[in-house]
Parts: sequence; C-alpha cells; structure tokens
Amino acid sequence: MPPSGRAGLPARAPTRVADSRDVPATVIVGAQWGDEGKGKIVDLLAEHCDLVCRYNGGPNAGHKIVADGETYKVQHIPSGVLRGKECVIGAGCVIDPAVLVDELDYLAGRGVHIDRLHLSTNAHVIMPWHVAIDQGVERRLGKLKIGTTKRGIGPTYADKAFRLGIRVQDLLDPKILRQKLEVALAEKNVWLERVYGAAPLELEELAARYENYAQRLRPYITDTSLLVDRALRDGKAVLLEGAHATLLDLDHGTYPFVTSSTTIAGGAAPGIGIGPTRIDEVVGVAKAYVTRVGEGPFPTEIEGPDQERLRELGGEFGTVTGRERRCGWLDLVALRYAARLNGFTSLALTKLDVLSAFAEIPVCVRYLLPDGSETADFPAHQSDFHHCRPVYETLPGWREPLGDELPPAAKAYVELVERELEVEVSLVGTGAERERVVALG
Ligand code: GDP
Ligand code: IMO
Ligand code: MG
Repeated sequence: MPPSGRAGLPARAPTRVADSRDVPATVIVGAQWGDEGKGKIVDLLAEHCDLVCRYNGGPNAGHKIVADGETYKVQHIPSGVLRGKECVIGAGCVIDPAVLVDELDYLAGRGVHIDRLHLSTNAHVIMPWHVAIDQGVERRLGKLKIGTTKRGIGPTYADKAFRLGIRVQDLLDPKILRQKLEVALAEKNVWLERVYGAAPLELEELAARYENYAQRLRPYITDTSLLVDRALRDGKAVLLEGAHATLLDLDHGTYPFVTSSTTIAGGAAPGIGIGPTRIDEVVGVAKAYVTRVGEGPFPTEIEGPDQERLRELGGEFGTVTGRERRCGWLDLVALRYAARLNGFTSLALTKLDVLSAFAEIPVCVRYLLPDGSETADFPAHQSDFHHCRPVYETLPGWREPLGDELPPAAKAYVELVERELEVEVSLVGTGAERERVVALG
C-alpha cells in the first residue's frame, strides 16, 4: 500500500530532476551574426561531453573544424561528430535530406563515425519547393533582398508555422508521404509556375526520390526528446549547439535581416524537447571582431582598406555559399545585447590572433543615435539601429603572434570585453586548429 499524500492521492517518489543539476547541460550560442567559430568551440568542449545536440536551423549553417591538419565541414550534423560523440539533430531543426545524406557520405568517406547520430521524428523537411521559393522570393525582392543562403530555410519554417509542413516522421510512411506531397504540390506548383516562373515539380519523381532518402535516414530517426532526457537523468554531460547566432534570431535579431529560427539560448529547450530548468550553462561565442554575411545594418562595418585586410587575414568567406563576409570592429553594444538575451555564464572570444596585425584596434563602446544622444544599450527601434554611428575606444595592438601566454595588450583587450559585458571570458581562440585556444582561469 503506497503512502498517502495530499488530497488522499498516493504520494509519488520525487523525480530525479534535481540530481541532473550536478551534471551540466550547456548551451553554446553565437553572440554576433554567425561564423564566430562555434564549430571549433563545440568540438573543443565535446571532448568532455557525452552527447552533442543541435537545436535549430538547417543547411544554412556551416562550420569549419581544423583537427590534426585536416579541415572538416559540417552543416546539419553537430560538430561533436568529429570526436565520435553521440549526436542529435533536434525537433527545432529543418532538414534537407539531400544535404544530410551527402554530409553522412562525406564524413564516412573521411573516416568519421556517423552511426551514433539521432534525428528527431519532429524535425521539418526542406522540400525542393522551399528551395525554389526561397530563390524566387530573393529574386523578386531585388535590392530589398535579405541575402539568404537560398537553402529553403524561411519557406520551410513558414510552412511549419502554417501547419502544412512535412516532418521527418512523415518520410517513414510512403502512404502518408505521398498524400502530403499531393496536397502540397497542388498549391506549391501554382506558386512556382505563376508567381516565381519556376518549373513545376512532379509527384511520382518526388515520391520515389524521398522514399530513397527515407531508407537512408530510417536508422537514425528516433524520439530525440526522450533520448536527451534519459541522458540527462543518467548523469551524462550534454552540449546543446546553436546554429547561426543571436542577431539572426527571428524575434530579437535585426529583423527582417535574420534567419527564421530561434537562435538564442532560450530556444535550446524547445528545440530539443527538454525543460528550461535542465540547462545550467550558456557559453557565448564571439569573434574578437565582427562579420556578417548577407544584407542588413552593420554599424561597425569598416570603410576602407582594413575591411579587406581583416577579410584576408581572417579567411572571412562563407562556409556555405562562399560569399565574402562583411567585416567590422568589435561591437560591445551588440555584444551586451547578446549577453542580455542569452544570459551567458561565460564567453569564448575567438580569432583574437587575426587582430595581431593591427597597430591600433577600435572597439565600439556606444552608439550615437540620430537625435544626438549616445547609448550603451541596443536600440529597440530599427530606425535608430539603421542610422546609429559607432563611438569607438581605440586600444593599442600587440603586434606579435599569440601563443599560450597572451601579451599585456591582448589581455587588456579581453579584459575590456569582460568589464563591459560583466561576463568572464573563459576561452580565447588563437588559431583555427583545434588546440589553438587559451583557457583563462
Ligand atoms: P561557425 O559557423 O560559428 O562554426 O564558424 P565558421 O566555421 O563558419 O567560421 C569560423 C572560421 O574561423 C572557420 O574557418 C574556423 O576554422 C576559423 N576559426 C575558428 N576559431 C579561430 C581562431 O581562434 N583563430 C582563427 N584564426 N581562426 C579560427
Ligand atoms: P553559422 O551557423 C552566417 C544569414 C544569411 C542571411 C540570413 C538569412 O554558420 O554561423 P537564411 O538562409 O537563414 O534564411 O538567411 O541569415 N545566415 C548566416 N550567416 N552564419 C550562419 O550560420 C548563417 N545562417 C544564416 O547569410 O543573411
Ligand atoms: Mg559558419
């Protein structure tokens, strides 16, 4: 007979949620406009973790990781895969099966173990019409375009919100898939032909192609919410990897020049299917300067030859599209905003070595607004942000390569960031290779 509890109900054993606080679920999130070096930091921290989970986005993300002299590229699969860790693609992600299958083949071909990957039944599938519509919308927008990666991200998340999406679990049942394809094509082909002047898609060909993808992906598809919850209850250390970055967040980023998912740390819980109370740490990843791919306002974008210089020194060309990344000086107003939105418990500052070439390094500490006032807080109104001018503090450079011991001027640069953000910088990137990182204590 179980002991009696309140209102005569049987008392239940307390859940073990409290125990799981002992072992961290850590979010890793980009603090700027992407390409901060999240892949490298995830790869680094994954060494001491059991499970690495991606919570948002799709093949618009691209991470380069340099290990043992080899460069690897990942788009869909969490960067922890290179450490042979169990990896999860969560419900908050959108999957292009063609890209994912290619990525699996690419990694397997390079000797990386891919059999410990798990793909959420609830993730949405990027279909060919999403890619065609993404391209068509950008074409029609002309000068007003977003500068998307043209991978179908926006249209896929739009159909998800519209409740018309096709999910990974739909791939597993040919009858359901065919029915969904039929319904979708009846509408999408009209849009493709009449609005975007694109070729219509053919039902039989699509059904056969996606049935093939289903066979390839079937072994990986599972209930990833349950899997991550069990891992946490078993005391495993879990990394939750965010794609893109804070200023590309759909709600809080520089809308409309954003991506279509929740990129910030708070999105990790719904994107994976765990409660927010399971998350202990939030590691922000910021470049020691700023880059942006695509259109949109960028207050600290450099005018003049230093832009080109920074791009060449930092190798700032897109991992997904090969586009030139726009380059600018570190923006502490935007970074403070990122600290507010994500609640960083620490920060990794990457690519500090790239700044070694500069005798003086401007850092934006405030914005000058169109009304003549200055602010240290990120403007809430887009017009203020579009028209603000950066107010710089100029720091002396260190003009020497960075090793394990940072020179005083480099230390001062890091300390300015810590002071302005009130967040500790725990890691400093000093080169692309896996081991080129300084841990600050
Ligand atoms: P992610 O999307 O945030 O993972 O970043 P990307 O991989 O798209 O872009 C970051 C680039 O910087 C990659 O080519 C990395 O190899 C490189 N990188 C990462 N950290 C460092 C660093 O500390 N120094 C230098 N020089 N390169 C770095
Ligand atoms: P990682 O994870 C840099 C940008 C695109 C475009 C905007 C919308 O590698 O840091 P989308 O295709 O998502 O609809 O494009 O968002 N963007 C990124 N920029 N790094 C990324 O990912 C990005 N993901 C999206 O360039 O401006
Ligand atoms: Mg990238």
